[in-house]
Amino acid sequence: MSKTIIISNRLPLQLQIDNNTIKATPSVGGLATGMKSVHRDSNGVWIGWTGLTEEETPEELVDDVAKAAQDAQCVPVSLTEEDIDGFYYGFSNRTIWPLFHYFMEYTEFEKESYQTYVEVNKKYAEVVLENIEEGDTVWVHDYQLMLLPELIKKERPDVQIGFFLHIPFPSYEVFRTLPWREEILKGLLGSDLIGFHTYDYQRHFLSSVSRILRHEVSFNEITLKDRIVTVNSYPMGIDYDKFADAAAKHDAAKNQSELQRRLDLHIDSTPDAKMILSIDRLDYSKGIANRIRAYEYFLEKYPEFKEKVRLVMLAVPSRSNVPQYQLLKKEVDELVGRINGKFASVSWTPIWYFYRSMPFENLIDLYTTCEVALLTPIRDGMNLVAKEYVATRTDKTGVLILSEMAGAAQEMSEALIINPNNFEEIADALKQAMEMPEAEQIKRNKFLQKRLKRYNVEKWADDFMHSLHDTTHKSDIVK
Ligand code: UDP
Ligand code: G6P
Repeated sequence: MSKTIIISNRLPLQLQIDNNTIKATPSVGGLATGMKSVHRDSNGVWIGWTGLTEEETPEELVDDVAKAAQDAQCVPVSLTEEDIDGFYYGFSNRTIWPLFHYFMEYTEFEKESYQTYVEVNKKYAEVVLENIEEGDTVWVHDYQLMLLPELIKKERPDVQIGFFLHIPFPSYEVFRTLPWREEILKGLLGSDLIGFHTYDYQRHFLSSVSRILRHEVSFNEITLKDRIVTVNSYPMGIDYDKFADAAAKHDAAKNQSELQRRLDLHIDSTPDAKMILSIDRLDYSKGIANRIRAYEYFLEKYPEFKEKVRLVMLAVPSRSNVPQYQLLKKEVDELVGRINGKFASVSWTPIWYFYRSMPFENLIDLYTTCEVALLTPIRDGMNLVAKEYVATRTDKTGVLILSEMAGAAQEMSEALIINPNNFEEIADALKQAMEMPEAEQIKRNKFLQKRLKRYNVEKWADDFMHSLHDTTHKSDIVK
């Protein structure tokens, strides 16, 4: 029976070694949480990195690591510390991530780390080629593996290859600054189908292909010598039922989590105060520092809301070996401290700050308890947190304030859409959210929920797979 091979840098489970035993925890981030539902329902395998380097894995545990991955239908790719340094902390997260999110000033162009990126993509290709059987379909994910489609296509031209980019594709003017722009585009063009979250990212990619590689681009197809590559947008959805069902169970549950008890204590002590939620990985693209400053501005502009709101902020540790992430951590710590010091009263702390990842149940506690979600990325490929927040609002109350720079904003026009650099607008949106009548909240969320339920992650994956299977036909015509 043919299968789908999913490949991403990070596997959906992360392994750690503790006292010579292997522990698995779920991976954080939109790619892992979204694709997990797709993978769960398939007979395929998922190839990727376990989070452990070769140096961290004692010889006697190598088989156990493979077994732990295998139990979750996964195949590990073995990487050394040097690989991770150049490939993950280097080219992926100091070059591509900042460049594709328009943070040019953070972007480093290092030849050595690009070379490691090439080597590591080759390591992935080896594992993929070992696992491909006739009739299989390959689905490569994200910016860490942009050379992989070409590496696989060269060896297995018979196999259908799809690629999906989970982050923005920047405009040609930004992309062209990359010294390895041709190699990256050629790598991607090893695919038969390339998918993006939005039409704008697709358009930017096509324009880069036609201007840099001078290939013929017509509508959404790129004609190569012997093949056609199709490019399209597929906005990623969430596992809607998983979130809606968990929220419904949460509302009915008698045994509450410790976090929920703490949230309830807050509600009891200040019954007319509202909670504003913010959840993201601690990443400069998420606009966390600006969000805190905008919240400060809101408290200054509308002092009547002092003691009437609380910002509940979950920042998940991410890529902490990259200097820009360390600087951001410091900045956020200082901002939270300063603002809490400036505004707090005996009975009120304006910001509750958690720097860690939370288990699914606690995310549901936060989503269902907070009346407002404030998500202000400077740039974001999609932002699944926005969708998860809306899906958990079982009684349809709640207000989503969302940055226009998130891919998700294009499908969520009923949210309060803001420019993350405009503090005036954010402060006014917060006031509007605080005062929005329940009937209006319900009206907006009704539309949003209907759309999210219909275009869920399963539908997203099905659409992508159907288009991928259709591409064979198109390429046959060229031949
Ligand atoms: N998430 C998680 N644990 C946490 C906080 C968040 O698993 O402690 C998940 C969250 O539910 C969401 C994902 O991480 O599915 C974040 O995806 P998003 O698209 O918002 O941003 P990304 O991290 O991919 O940039
Ligand atoms: C985003 C990226 C993913 C990545 C995730 C977490 O969602 O699109 O590719 O896995 O962030 O980041 P990390 O660097 O921890 O894998």
